[in-house]
Amino acid sequence: MSSTSKYIIEVKIDVIKTLKLLGITAGALTAIGLGTYYIHQRIQRSKRVILRDEVKHVLEPFELTDEQLRRVMANLNTEMINSLKSDGDIDKNDLGMFPTYVHRGPNGQETGEYLVVDLGGSNFRVSHVVIEGRNRINLKNKIFLIPHSLLLGEGERLFDYIAECLQRFIDDNGLNLNKPVDYTFDLAFTFSFPCNQTSLSQATLVSWTKGFSCTGVVGHDVVLMLQQAIDRRKSLKIQVVALVNDTVGTLMACSSIYRDCKVGVILGTGTNACYFENIENVPKWTGVRNQTTKQVVINTEWGALGKHACLDFIRTSIDRELDESSLTPNQQVFEKMISALYLGEIVRLIIVDLVQRSILLPGRMHKSPSLGRDYNIFLSLRGSFYAKHVDDIECDTTEDLSVTSLILTSIGIQEPSYDDCYIIREVCKTVSLRAARLAAAAIAVLVNRVNLPSVTVGIDGTLFRHHGKFKKNLTRTLSRLVPRTHRLVLSEDGSSKGSALVAAVHRYTNEIATSS
Ligand code: BGC
Repeated sequence: MSSTSKYIIEVKIDVIKTLKLLGITAGALTAIGLGTYYIHQRIQRSKRVILRDEVKHVLEPFELTDEQLRRVMANLNTEMINSLKSDGDIDKNDLGMFPTYVHRGPNGQETGEYLVVDLGGSNFRVSHVVIEGRNRINLKNKIFLIPHSLLLGEGERLFDYIAECLQRFIDDNGLNLNKPVDYTFDLAFTFSFPCNQTSLSQATLVSWTKGFSCTGVVGHDVVLMLQQAIDRRKSLKIQVVALVNDTVGTLMACSSIYRDCKVGVILGTGTNACYFENIENVPKWTGVRNQTTKQVVINTEWGALGKHACLDFIRTSIDRELDESSLTPNQQVFEKMISALYLGEIVRLIIVDLVQRSILLPGRMHKSPSLGRDYNIFLSLRGSFYAKHVDDIECDTTEDLSVTSLILTSIGIQEPSYDDCYIIREVCKTVSLRAARLAAAAIAVLVNRVNLPSVTVGIDGTLFRHHGKFKKNLTRTLSRLVPRTHRLVLSEDGSSKGSALVAAVHRYTNEIATSS
């Protein structure tokens, strides 16, 4: 029962006791009781109006107009063009716009057996992929946990751990059985971080994102580092043949089904996109220019947008606070407004702000000796509110907001009132809507750049896959921003299947070239 209704009942009982003593009849009692109830309700209602205005004031900077979204689109497009022009100097431009050395999607002729290592989130995955032609693909995989210490420790140890897991995977699945002694597996390395590629299998890590911070990797060729770790284990016979960003894997997996799939997007722990660009629009391309390289997939690394202030017109004080206390200040500005790694934290910071303004949870915080203020442990812990909470609360349609109440209680907020739950649901809705609308604006830019009568966009990532409202808001906004025909398709197992397809296309192209 909410504290409001408890209060009402207590008031009624007190009135009843007093009146009984005075010998007043039941009818009169009811009339007086109802009167008290309605006065109380009116006070509550006017309190709520004041509350609503205050909350509105705090949330207003997060509500983006279509005009603001169009300005984001224009700025992203300009940054993309500038970054394609330059020699890739990341200090001058916001975006990497890295050519990936992938020139076409699969045509159904590719076949073969591949291993894929997928590193990009807090887990990593090893897969065994068999492509049987006409894009029939069999996939077996296993997820391995990465101990937190490895994410922040020495890079070489991380790569040794990957090689160890590869060995376990091969042994557990008997992949070496019935193979010639000198059989070497081709491996595609899905590595979802900004890399400057100089070939399909040479890629220098530009910077870590998403909470990774291993030493001795930035500025180094990650394909070489993985190959060396593999070679240190004498029994492993594996050749790393391709480095693939997860967006590229997503695009390839989806384009094996939809021929007009020209854009790959990730909306998950991080966010990014890639697309097919005409080589003539890529002045910085230094590779071969011929009939087979008329296009190249560009890894935009759009999460870095805003590094040189082009998003300042929509950044809020909360965005800045989140950025300053992150592992990567002033980097991945756009990603920090959209992706799952940050959504919960934005909500948490707004809740803290509302508590400090005495709008939320009045009088229900525990004293924190270190902070000297009323604080709940949850509220003082960075990263303690997850994107999953945002989604669950946003989707709470119960009349008494019991789902929200349960979630808040489970993370340590004791006895939230209906008003608390209502306000927190508003916060979640607003933050999630902003993220979806920004993602839509960015996708709109790529759909326009691809410039075809109809375009399919392959998408993967938890926000698109599991967050119902996010997907709906994204789809709705995109339709308003781009009149061009487009469809959004969930890319299944993109980063494993798609990366194997990259390796397969490469093998097939080489075979054709050597046989002619
Ligand atoms: C990385 C991208 C990646 C994206 C999605 C970003 O943090 O920089 O390379 O594609 O996350 O995983």
